[in-house]
Amino acid sequence: MRIKNICCIGAGYVGGPSMAIIAKYCPDIQVNVVDINPQRIAQWNDKLLSNLPIYEPGLDKIIQKCRNKNLHFSNNIKQQIENADMIFISVNTPTKLKGIGAGQAIDLRYVEASSREISKYAKGHTIVVEKSTLPVKTAQTIKDILDATTKKNISDNKTFSVLSNPEFLAEGTAIKDLENPDRVLIGGEDRIAIDALVEIYSKWIDKNKVMTTDLWSSELSKLIANAFLAQRISSINTISALCEATGAQIKDVALAVGMDKRIGRYFLNSGPGFGGSCFKKDISNLVYISNHYGLFEVANYWQKVLDINSWQQERFVELIVKKMFGTISSKTIAILGFSFKANTNDTRESPAIYISKKLIEEGAFLKIYDPKVTNQQIELDLQVDNQKNLNKNWIFCESIYDVFEKADAAVFITEWQEFEHLDWLKISNIMIKPSWIFDTRSIVNIEKVKESNLNIWQVGYGY
Ligand code: NAD
Ligand code: UGA
Repeated sequence: MRIKNICCIGAGYVGGPSMAIIAKYCPDIQVNVVDINPQRIAQWNDKLLSNLPIYEPGLDKIIQKCRNKNLHFSNNIKQQIENADMIFISVNTPTKLKGIGAGQAIDLRYVEASSREISKYAKGHTIVVEKSTLPVKTAQTIKDILDATTKKNISDNKTFSVLSNPEFLAEGTAIKDLENPDRVLIGGEDRIAIDALVEIYSKWIDKNKVMTTDLWSSELSKLIANAFLAQRISSINTISALCEATGAQIKDVALAVGMDKRIGRYFLNSGPGFGGSCFKKDISNLVYISNHYGLFEVANYWQKVLDINSWQQERFVELIVKKMFGTISSKTIAILGFSFKANTNDTRESPAIYISKKLIEEGAFLKIYDPKVTNQQIELDLQVDNQKNLNKNWIFCESIYDVFEKADAAVFITEWQEFEHLDWLKISNIMIKPSWIFDTRSIVNIEKVKESNLNIWQVGYGY
């Protein structure tokens, strides 16, 4: 089966970049990305590439090359579903906020809505591909919805094949990850549909990297890959506290441990805990599923990974207050970095949100700087609790050195590269004395900071 028309439902951090790459390497395929959010689509179509809805290094060049040729963004969901031989579901799958499983289970309403739209508008034979991260067995739900329509309208001649093809890209390196992934995973039962998807990926990826399996193994593998990555971060974060207590240095411990090939050096950077839209929701879901199957020890084990993540952020706030003579009331604190990691404008579950809110609650005034996150986004992230009037207690700084002006302390939360090479003497001259630098990412040069007459605390750095 040769694919000529692809539709992707969901123009977000996954839908946008992953379809841009397919469009780049498959010029014979028309790729249509659709979304219910008209503003998001308008941003994808903006002539000014700096206005794209997401920031990813290298993405703008691909959009420039393919947009309006074989890559299109629109709100015309009905028409693009009708035209497609293959449809990717890349919608958001947040944690349920209320009802059964609130706080843990995945809210599948957007996946269900997409499946209903597909069942209504699709024509002929359509391959439906799960791209979103989904609880194991969701493909059955999608099939049930699709089957209900095919059974009802036998005369329509509609048929569907459902595949699971989870996405493993990380934000900030999405283009690199998509162009050269460690593996592509495809789960399914229909060999012809699997081969059609393999054929697309083989345009730029070695076939040996494409693994095929059954639907449930594919769905579960994605959840478990995220859980294992997050588990490493929580593990190293527990050791950062032990280093601080004993005089060892986390960077050296992580290096020594990671040099063992069996362990590996990635995902051993201690920091303010993992953020991002997925680790917390996916592990919460794993805990929920494990409990659902009566596997309580399994659930408790993974719950600890989440608990340690919260603990790391809580202990940083306590430590900042303690170091600043037990009170930060009416003190000015600079926040460096608001995105959940470097090279993205995404703030979902960013440790900066929790830390900033707590510091404001303790009475501090914040000056916030991030090279890619907008003032408006920070306003949205900090305004949750209107009664506490959090927005009056912070300002956004356009330039990096402004943020240090008359500040009592500076907290480095995101590991942006520009934070690694700062003029510490200049900073020392404009901060209030005694001044504190809190480096939650191990990115500043301790010696240079000390030489500049500033106090420094760094994660996992024992004295
Ligand atoms: P996102 O919120 O950035 O994008 C999802 C988009 O889907 C939104 O623009 C939303 O308006 C749209 N949408 C929702 N329901 C729709 C409907 N019925 N019809 C049309 N559009 C609809 O989310 P994301 O970060 O791209 O994540 C999508 C999925 O991919 C999630 O399951 C996530 O776990 C997974 N994932 C995300 C990443 C990542 O780095 N963000 C990486 C791998 C996997
Ligand atoms: C993560 C996974 O890495 C992707 O494979 C997966 O596709 C994606 O989740 C998803 O399913 O959404 P992402 O969250 O974009 O990608 O970014 P990561 O690089 O994994 O970072 C996640 C968080 O962990 C960030 O806050 C980062 O700063 C933190 N982190 C990462 C550390 O604290 N230490 C590390 O060593 C690595």
